[in-house]
Amino acid sequence: MTTAPATPPASRRRPWAEPWKVKVVEPIRMMDRAARERALAAAGYNTFLLRSEDVYIDLLTDSGTSAMSDWQWAGMMMGDEAYAGSRNFYNLEAAIREHYGYKHVVPTHQGRGAENLLSRMLIKPGHVVPGNMYFTTTRLHQELAGGRFADVIERAAHDPADQGPFKGNVDLVALEALVASVGAAAIPYVCVAGTVNMAGGQPVSMANMRGLRELTNRHGIRVMLDATRAVENAYFIQQREAGYSGTSVAAILREFCSYTDGCTMSGKKDSLVNIGGWLALNDDVLYEEASNLVVVYEGLHTYGGMSGRDMEAMARGIVESVQDDHIRARIGQVEYLGQKLIDAGVPVVRPIGGHAVYLDAKAFYPQVPQDEFPAQRLAAELYLDAGIRAMERGIVSAGRDAATGRHHYPALELVRLTIPRRVYTQAHMDLTADSVIAVHEQRADTRGLRLIYEPRYLRFFQARFEPLA
Ligand code: F0G
Repeated sequence: MTTAPATPPASRRRPWAEPWKVKVVEPIRMMDRAARERALAAAGYNTFLLRSEDVYIDLLTDSGTSAMSDWQWAGMMMGDEAYAGSRNFYNLEAAIREHYGYKHVVPTHQGRGAENLLSRMLIKPGHVVPGNMYFTTTRLHQELAGGRFADVIERAAHDPADQGPFKGNVDLVALEALVASVGAAAIPYVCVAGTVNMAGGQPVSMANMRGLRELTNRHGIRVMLDATRAVENAYFIQQREAGYSGTSVAAILREFCSYTDGCTMSGKKDSLVNIGGWLALNDDVLYEEASNLVVVYEGLHTYGGMSGRDMEAMARGIVESVQDDHIRARIGQVEYLGQKLIDAGVPVVRPIGGHAVYLDAKAFYPQVPQDEFPAQRLAAELYLDAGIRAMERGIVSAGRDAATGRHHYPALELVRLTIPRRVYTQAHMDLTADSVIAVHEQRADTRGLRLIYEPRYLRFFQARFEPLA
């Protein structure tokens, strides 16, 4: 006698199907190969310098590229464009207090605006700022303020093949040793990011945050969160950390933030908007200084470089971003693409991160030395193959040592296929996987690039290259 297989629960059968349907579409097109070759040469083999119109599937970044909901668009019509005291600011402040739990909010035009304020307020020449791997703009603001970044991420983060569930964790032993060697007074704060972008979108565990809070409390050191993708981090805690499977992402986010003294935020990621950011602080005195400094660099402390409608869209985006079904679908789509590549034997950072699939360019092109920019070359090849735009996250992004002028040589030489939120379909993911697999099959003869122009700051944005013959 045969029996029908038991129907798995809906969440197992189709764990990540989107909790929305499409209302508005934007046409995209794939140019022919000759046109892509011309476009890439004109862009100096740098995907940042391509015109968006010449791109078919744009996986450059998840920053500012999300699709907003009808509720957010409706909120755009409710913009109160007063110079001071816009009601949308108070809505934003309320959403941040409720979902992130901080006391004070200073709006900024985007994340790096908040980083600038924080760095200027707290970092003095000679200071050391420990962090769980650098981020490009974050480290630059720390250096411009006279500080030095010290990497205290766990060692596993530098190994693309390590399958650890929380590869973004702070190495608390290394941090304790750093405090002992430079002294707590030289450390204005620990900058902790969850998830860790440059490590492949890897999360930090709640246990690690608790340990970090305990360590820093003992030494009287602040903890500042880079909350840019903290909702995605909260989802990984729900999925992977013992004791959290029955807790909502919203509640996990609140607890996560409670171990920190404030945060910088790029609303362009988790918060489902095209522009905006903020600095949050619990300390009243620091807040007073920040609300004064923001006037100099961003705008009055009740708009900070954003229009009223932008603040409303972000307030509503925050509410949407912490819904379990939203975040499950968002990360589910990223994992879907990642799994297809793993199944085809393409080397990717494991486990698959929250916002992107990261190709391991060192394993992809072992014949290309790191100072011939293997990841930059791989991103170029993906564009040539099917008009897919990705981003280098390797030696070009790592830049030069501020003291010696030599390249930083990061252990991770990656290409990031970054998935915008609520934008592309499963067919787009299939096409992307097919293209990456095709480029992987043709990898044997590929050579690197030569750097022919290098700007002074954040070179990856505007550098230009030529293919080696
Ligand atoms: N922190 C993290 C972890 C980021 O990923 C970013 C931006 C920022 C801070 C700066 O925020 O762009 O609003 O000024 N990341 C984008 C990316 C650029 O593509 O990963 P911003």
